[in-house]
Amino acid sequence: MSKKDTNKTAWKGGVAQWYKKSVGVEGSYYHKEVVIPNSLRLLDIKNGEKILDLGCGQGIMGRHIKNKYLGIDLSTELIEEAKKLDKNINHTYLVGDITKDLKIYGIFDKGMIILALQNVKKSFGVIRNFSKLLNKGGELLIVINHPAFRIPKHSDWVVKDGKQFRIMESYLSPLEIPIESSPFDKKNNQISYSYHYPLSAYTEMLSDNGFLIKNMEEWISPKKSEGPMAIIEDRARGEFPLFLAIKAVKNG
Ligand SMILES: C[S@@+](CC[C@H](N)C(=O)[O-])C[C@H]1O[C@@H](n2cnc3c(N)ncnc32)[C@H](O)[C@@H]1O
Repeated sequence: MSKKDTNKTAWKGGVAQWYKKSVGVEGSYYHKEVVIPNSLRLLDIKNGEKILDLGCGQGIMGRHIKNKYLGIDLSTELIEEAKKLDKNINHTYLVGDITKDLKIYGIFDKGMIILALQNVKKSFGVIRNFSKLLNKGGELLIVINHPAFRIPKHSDWVVKDGKQFRIMESYLSPLEIPIESSPFDKKNNQISYSYHYPLSAYTEMLSDNGFLIKNMEEWISPKKSEGPMAIIEDRARGEFPLFLAIKAVKNG
């Protein structure tokens, strides 16, 4: 894989600007309503535990943690923003490619990768890094867009006979999906990438790296519709989760 190829997944330029704005100090709507409270509950951080956050973006999770914390991301712009927003002296932010062997000294009690494993090209390397850097018995939390129901450009809603269905165009095949930030504004258009794998690929990369899955949760969107379609839309939203959380323990 060429250097250009690995660096292409960093969120930079227009995508970094957009992400800084949409996450802000407090987090995006889904961060605040779903991802942050549920992730903190599952992480269950105790005093003295050291925390590793790979693909940390502009440090939204770090700002909710008091412990010793290291956040790493490939985007220089987002890491600069994280340093600006987080004044905790126990927190460190570094620019790095989390798919490659991370040259870090130290060992961590808990690790997380929140809404970012789906944005790296080689997710196996990320799990290998966690395996290297977590204590035996250490816990890893992965939060991703639900791979069975939310594949950008390959899944959608359809309404038929008064019911709302989720339709999937593919599932088992790994996919690289380019996402355009402004498809109708070619001058400012920027591409970010989403990577899809089926659930079995995640279980395989975890077990191959010495992790046992402790539990999985599926989180729905708490949004509520208005208007004539509200009942069927709310029902469908309650049936098909937006996010998948996997908590795994380092065994070997
Ligand atoms: C959707 S953002 C999530 C950031 C953060 N965890 C959050 O919840 O706001 C995905 C992040 O993955 C980062 N990323 C993509 N490829 C990467 C790589 N190879 N190494 C490190 N970070 C990477 C991007 O720069 C971006 O910040």
